[in-house]
Amino acid sequence: MKTVIDFIEAKKEGRKISMVSTYEYWSAAICEEAGIDSILVGDSAGMVVQGLDTTLPVTLEEMIYHAKAVRRGAPNTFIVVDMPFMSYQVSVEDAVKNAGKIMKETGANAVKIEGGEEVAHIIEKLVSVGIPVMGHLGLTPQSVHALGGYRIQGKSEEQQKKIIKDAKVLEQAGVFSIVLEAVPSRLAKEITEFVEVATIGIGAGKYTDGQILVFHDMMGFFDRSPKFVKRYVEGKKLFIQALEEYREEIQKGKFPEQKHIYE
Ligand code: KIV
Ligand code: NA
Repeated sequence: MKTVIDFIEAKKEGRKISMVSTYEYWSAAICEEAGIDSILVGDSAGMVVQGLDTTLPVTLEEMIYHAKAVRRGAPNTFIVVDMPFMSYQVSVEDAVKNAGKIMKETGANAVKIEGGEEVAHIIEKLVSVGIPVMGHLGLTPQSVHALGGYRIQGKSEEQQKKIIKDAKVLEQAGVFSIVLEAVPSRLAKEITEFVEVATIGIGAGKYTDGQILVFHDMMGFFDRSPKFVKRYVEGKKLFIQALEEYREEIQKGKFPEQKHIYE
């Protein structure tokens, strides 16, 4: 993916889009080398990197710090940056100023904001000043308190109607793509067929135009994973093994070896 147009082209041509959420130089570099289509600098950084329970405390400055590091690691990748909680909800002026700061300081290609109809006027304004916007529907973690926890969305018919309508409203507001998080596969399929912009699913089944997972989740760094996560490596086990070996080798005087020593 080089531009927003590539997302929509990929959808038209039936090429599935791969995205990874990550926050640092090194993991971004790995994603680029592996040919991942696009990186999201997610506000999930609050949980993954900072150990918080929610994404709410994450600041604009923290997102900019992460995004700069990711851009240095992945200079040729399409990068989307999450606008953190309360950086776009208060006023359109705020949203433009803060999204503009992200774009100017990080070299990101787009921003992502959570919500449906209620944020459509913000999306319209951002797109009109030249800032591409990705939407995010279903489970929107910045609203965790209002949603009553991290739970699947769109179970009732009423909720489904609302999400489908929101997707259309976001498309009309000018998003180039929409993340669908934790919704039934059938609903994600219906939305994907209903809109022309690319849908990117996480816990949304296999009919979306692309998929996104958090790097640290898919690499198996946490003890427990939600149902929708596939652990491609047992990273935690591998890293603990390496650290134990290191500790023991230090104790036994086996590390450093001759080849690691400056004579
Ligand atoms: O913050 C994040 O990583 C996200 C994705 C999981 C969609 O919003
Ligand atoms: Na996020």
